[in-house]
Amino acid sequence: MCGIVAYIGQREAYPIVLKGLKRLEYRGYDSAGVALLNGNGLKVYKKKGKVAELEDHLSGKDVGSHVAIGHTRWATHGEPSDRNSHPHSSGNGKLAMIHNGIIENYSLLKQELLKKGHVFNSDTDTEVLIHFIEEIQSSNQCGLEEALRIALKRVVGAYVIVLVDEDNPDTLIAARKGSPLVIGVGKGEHFLASDASPIVEYTKEVVFVNDYEIAIIKADELILKNISNERQTPYIQKLDIELAAIEKSGYDHFMLKEIFEQPQTIFDSLRGRLDAKSGTLTLGGIREHAAILSQAKRIIIVACGTSWHAGLVAEYMIEELCRVPVEVEYASEFRYRNPVVGEGDVIIAVSQSGETADTLVAIESAKQKGAIILGVCNVVGSSIARLSHAGAYTHAGPEIGVASTKAFTAQLAVLCMIGLKVAQEKGTITQQRFQHLLDELDAISEKVATTLKLNDQVKQIADKYKDARDFLYLGRGYNFPVALEGALKLKEISYIHAEGYPAAEMKHGPIALVDENLPVVFVATRDSYYEKVVSNIQEIKARKGKVIAVVTEGDQTIPGMADDVIEVPAADELIAPILSVIPLQLLAYHIGVLKGFDVDKPRNLAKSVTVE
Ligand code: AGP
Ligand code: GLU
Repeated sequence: MCGIVAYIGQREAYPIVLKGLKRLEYRGYDSAGVALLNGNGLKVYKKKGKVAELEDHLSGKDVGSHVAIGHTRWATHGEPSDRNSHPHSSGNGKLAMIHNGIIENYSLLKQELLKKGHVFNSDTDTEVLIHFIEEIQSSNQCGLEEALRIALKRVVGAYVIVLVDEDNPDTLIAARKGSPLVIGVGKGEHFLASDASPIVEYTKEVVFVNDYEIAIIKADELILKNISNERQTPYIQKLDIELAAIEKSGYDHFMLKEIFEQPQTIFDSLRGRLDAKSGTLTLGGIREHAAILSQAKRIIIVACGTSWHAGLVAEYMIEELCRVPVEVEYASEFRYRNPVVGEGDVIIAVSQSGETADTLVAIESAKQKGAIILGVCNVVGSSIARLSHAGAYTHAGPEIGVASTKAFTAQLAVLCMIGLKVAQEKGTITQQRFQHLLDELDAISEKVATTLKLNDQVKQIADKYKDARDFLYLGRGYNFPVALEGALKLKEISYIHAEGYPAAEMKHGPIALVDENLPVVFVATRDSYYEKVVSNIQEIKARKGKVIAVVTEGDQTIPGMADDVIEVPAADELIAPILSVIPLQLLAYHIGVLKGFDVDKPRNLAKSVTVE
């Protein structure tokens, strides 16, 4: 994700773009930049850090212009830095471009361009695309719009791009595939942005650009074409939602928005890596360490909180797939107990923020003792990512809600791919099971979308149990970590005490808690532990506990036992946690909202715990 803003018209462009970038900073805040076109030509200013730092950087500079493009970055390729910031320029400096998305085949294109003498100043995929467009323009001797059309036919990935051309200062060119672009239609002026929040104060008339469309925009003219150069009629709509709602894309809270983003964010975590049709899995970030990984005598997963729960799921996955011992450690414990770790050990550090102090220090000491560190982070260029020898980003986009949701499911998808890759290297998985799990991963985004349709049902269940004093969350096998995660979500945003437990562990004490006032959430999807979990449900019911069960759709047994049942689509037990956690996220969210709490900023919590 990132924030894109552009303006062309009679007003001063820079203040409009700068204010717009501030409104979009929730979409990404690694760096920011603008390109301005005025009588003195094309000027590009860009800086690592927040938009405010760009603003300071530009104070006193010549920012007069009626055409400007601006970008606030969420890095995917190339760590946050001045040189990796957008806009990126063509080799001849005549073109400048901003981009939201991922160019999956950028490294292939870059090799071709390097052979043709192109020189790159950044590590980004975006800079490759602007040089590719420039190369086509010069080799085909064609206009910018035609060069863009040709280039986009070769590009694989997702993009919104906006281009300015010093030789055509009265025109902006934009294109969209897979990332959002809104055009605001004013009188003698046009506004472009990733969502309507930078536009709505100037005009309520907007055009939502569709995939594979190219827009050629002048102050008083908007032309839309498809990738085959056929004119499209711009469909002008009237915005009717308020600014605050727009930043949350119409959702009441970032947390709910991020829960509903999961079909897309899981797809993004798989993008460019999983190709179920060809049966291939490409994890560039760990390729050169795949051998070390496959020869590892032991894998230690180090994390905190929700990321630790993802690590626990990964323990079950990797042990099943790779037949190598996996330990999951709370980073805060691991770092202080002088662990026995060294050469031959592989540490997987799981962290959404990539800045969690306990995790960071834990891997620093392991690295000093000779262990190989793999980072599974969501923030590109974060401290943990930079400290790791290799890794894989989760590409879930900025997670604003303090309670982690989309980052968790993206972590599960990436950790599953790592397990599959290592199992393939080690030969501990049959080709048939490998392909089956690739197919399961390929289908999971759709199943998550289906599960999200249960939102209203979960809201009713939340209303029924919101006043309970305590909750228990129970699960076995792959669903045990999911039970822990469900309990953490509830604690974090509703302040209700909740405990997650292995379902079989109840009879060793905690079952004494069970009475008619205690809701017990069972994660009881169809898997190899199913029959045992059914018995555990009976034990709870025998003591009048209230049972809320997450089951596989079509379950014929548990609905007759439980007080409330939530049915999720069937999935292989190794992948099912990505689905079974969704109702638990929604349950916690709705209880928190029904109790009147700020679910995006729960009391006592911070999004990233960068202190010990
Ligand atoms: C999860 O909802 C919490 N916000 C918290 O437990 C979080 O998972 C933990 O602090 C780890 O953060 P990280 O993934 O950024 O390292
Ligand atoms: N992939 C581009 C980069 O890493 C764009 C990222 C974004 O959408 O902000 O710079």
